[in-house]
Amino acid sequence: MLLTRTLPALRSTAPAGRLYLRAMSTSTEPLVLSSRSPNNSVAILTLNRPKALNALSSPLFDQLNAELEKADEDDSVRAIVITGSEKAFAAGADIKEMKDKEFAEVYKRNFLGTWTKIKDIRKPIVGAVSGFALGGGCELAMSLDLLICNSRAVFAQPEITLGIIPGAGGTQRLTGLIGKARAMDMVLTGRKIDGKTAEAWGLVSRCVGDEENVVEEAVKVGETIASFGRVAVQAGKEAVNASLELPLDQGLRLERRLFQSLFATQDQKEGMGAFAEKRKPTWGDK
Ligand code: CAA
Repeated sequence: MLLTRTLPALRSTAPAGRLYLRAMSTSTEPLVLSSRSPNNSVAILTLNRPKALNALSSPLFDQLNAELEKADEDDSVRAIVITGSEKAFAAGADIKEMKDKEFAEVYKRNFLGTWTKIKDIRKPIVGAVSGFALGGGCELAMSLDLLICNSRAVFAQPEITLGIIPGAGGTQRLTGLIGKARAMDMVLTGRKIDGKTAEAWGLVSRCVGDEENVVEEAVKVGETIASFGRVAVQAGKEAVNASLELPLDQGLRLERRLFQSLFATQDQKEGMGAFAEKRKPTWGDK
């Protein structure tokens, strides 16, 4: 079985060959568990508040940011997977933490401001979503680079039912991904959609079938990315993300400059040389 050796907190309760996520947690355990894929190239970060359906409390988010920064700095990590439990990727920001907060406090302390740190991570991050991805959970998922979910995934922005609106990208990223009409439907009615619908609407990259394990699929995607040269991977991520913020002419210029600059790398010589010589390339990441 692919991941049982590397994910101590996840137990298989399923027939051989399938990994089911059931995080076993005690109050002293970290709120984010860190492990590695079998070939060590992918860091797997597992949100670990299963009893609270991985509600994204401030301490949990701080730990997630710290683990992400650690993985970004670690040269042996070439891609990152973020996942939750089988029942919940994350059921949103922690409502019990938020319910008594006042405007002055959340404004002065820039509440949720640290959630945007994920944007600074240079390595690709793949989300593996099973179960609830609600409110902040859906927003966290959308802030990752690629999303794999299963048919049991449930995406929604239910903030309207709490007397608020999404505060971590739910109106901005969702609209870019699925369009205004569907985003309005989700934000103003709290409509829930399943994994297959999320795939059809372009919210996720792939929705895997019931016979497949979503974390294993996400790790496979991470390992594929990890098998390529790091400089080109980082440039690809930077260029795609820039398209979300730049007008087309500036985006095209940035893309062309990044493309041209890759001709200064050994990996470009190696990749094209290996193609011409009909051999497998060996990346030096420089
Ligand atoms: N915050 C805090 N605790 C949460 C939570 C959340 N977002 N979601 C679930 N929990 C807790 C529940 O309070 C419960 O705790 P107790 O056992 O101590 O009572 C535990 O997790 C299990 O939850 P349920 O008993 O409710 O489980 P369920 O299977 O019956 O229902 C659910 C699951 C439909 C996801 C339901 O828990 C729910 O609706 N959760 C809230 C979802 C939500 O509104 N999210 C948006 C939050 S606001 C936000 O995220 C703002 C933003 O833009 C960042």
